[in-house]
Amino acid sequence: MSTPMPASSAINPPPLPPEQRARLIDAARIAQQRAYAPYSHYRVGAALLTADGTIVTGGNVENSAFPATICAERSAVVKAISDGQREFVAVVVFTRDGGWPCGTCRQVLHEFAPHIRVIVADEAGNSAEEILDALLPHGFHLNDPNQPNR
Ligand code: THU
Repeated sequence: MSTPMPASSAINPPPLPPEQRARLIDAARIAQQRAYAPYSHYRVGAALLTADGTIVTGGNVENSAFPATICAERSAVVKAISDGQREFVAVVVFTRDGGWPCGTCRQVLHEFAPHIRVIVADEAGNSAEEILDALLPHGFHLNDPNQPNR
């Protein structure tokens, strides 16, 4: 039987100031245009906001060996971590239809920022958001004392 999550996992960070939110959406929109998606034609742009205010973007990069494709969110995380950034406040995922991050990307975001604000935005100008806890309850973490199977 798993142990209940501690109260700290329900952290609800304050919303982004509207101007910063708009700038992050714009960065994700530009990243979407740079995506490489010749197979699915579903281009995804991601923009990560770090704790020091830096924006790191990523796009999906597909491959003719389909499973070698990397999603936009993971491109952005890999870029950011490689550049020495470790603290993430928010991520925007920009697509034609406002799709939410896939399960693998949720888990990769959880590794570094279990309470990150996840904003989805579409080409029509719509957006929605959730805290990652709501999208990935009980995400896995090897060093989490609440994980029964570590
Ligand atoms: N994709 C992402 O970039 N992020 C997600 O969270 C879901 C899916 C990409 C992978 C693939 O290139 C295309 O969208 C269609 O699945």
